[in-house]
Amino acid sequence: MSKFVALVPAAGSGSRMGGSLPKQYLPLLERPLIDHTLRALASHPRIAQVYVVLSPDDASWDELGIQLEKLTVLRCGGAARAQSVTNGLKAIAAEVAADDWVLVHDAARPCLRAEHLDRMLDELAGDGVGGILAVPVADTLKRSGPEQRIAETVPREGLWQAQTPQMFRHGMLLKALEAAGSAVTDEASAIERMGLQPKLVEGDARNLKVTYPRDLELAALILGGEQEQ
Ligand code: CTP
Ligand code: MG
Repeated sequence: MSKFVALVPAAGSGSRMGGSLPKQYLPLLERPLIDHTLRALASHPRIAQVYVVLSPDDASWDELGIQLEKLTVLRCGGAARAQSVTNGLKAIAAEVAADDWVLVHDAARPCLRAEHLDRMLDELAGDGVGGILAVPVADTLKRSGPEQRIAETVPREGLWQAQTPQMFRHGMLLKALEAAGSAVTDEASAIERMGLQPKLVEGDARNLKVTYPRDLELAALILGGEQEQ
C-alpha cells in the first residue's frame, strides 16, 4: 500500500514579514512557529515521515533544538519555493516509492489540524491525480484599476483559495515540477500544466499562512483557542 509522507518547504526568508529572523522561526505561543507546523504533521498517525527542507545556509535551525521521532532534516532549499520542493523530492527519492503520496505543506501554516489531514487522506487516497486543501471564496471580489479604484466586480462563483497541504504521488509530482520550472507558486499548478485536474478538498480559514506581522497574532489566537478547549 502507498504510504503518506510530508514535505515541508522552510527555506524562505519571510521578506513580507520583515525582521531579521525568517518567519518560520519567530516565537508563537512560546515555541518556534515551525515547531507547531512540524508537530501537526508528525503527530498524525497516518503520516509515516516528515521531511523539512531548509536553506543550505540556514543559521537558526540548530539552535532551536527541535527533535521529533518522524522528522528528517534536508538542507537543500532553493531560490524559489518550487525549487525547494523539487530538491526535497529528489533528496527523498531513495526512501519513497513513485506511488507514495507526498503532502507538501508550507512551514508558514502552523494551525493545520488533524481533521484537515483526515479529510484529505480520506478523500484523496484512492484518487488518480491527488489534490489540495482549499477554501471557497466567501467575500465579493474586486479587481482594481488606476488610482486603486474598482475597475470591476469579479463573480466569486467557483473560486477557491488554495492552501496546503497539496498531496500528489512522488513520481508524478517530481515530473510535473521539473517540467514546470520555478514559475509555479504551488504544486497543483505544475500538475495542472500536465493537463490533469487536482481535486479541491474543503478546508477552512484557520489554516492560514503567516505572511504579515498581523497574521502571527491571528495564528496565536487560533492555536490558543484550541489549547483552552
Ligand atoms: N519557501 C521555500 N523556499 C523558498 C521560498 C519559500 O522553502 N525559496 C517556503 C517558505 O519557507 C514557506 C513556504 O515556502 O514555508 C511558503 O512561502 P512564503 O509564504 O512565500 O514564504 P517566504 O517566501 O519566506 O515569504 P516572502 O514571500 O514574504 O519572502
Ligand atoms: Mg515567498
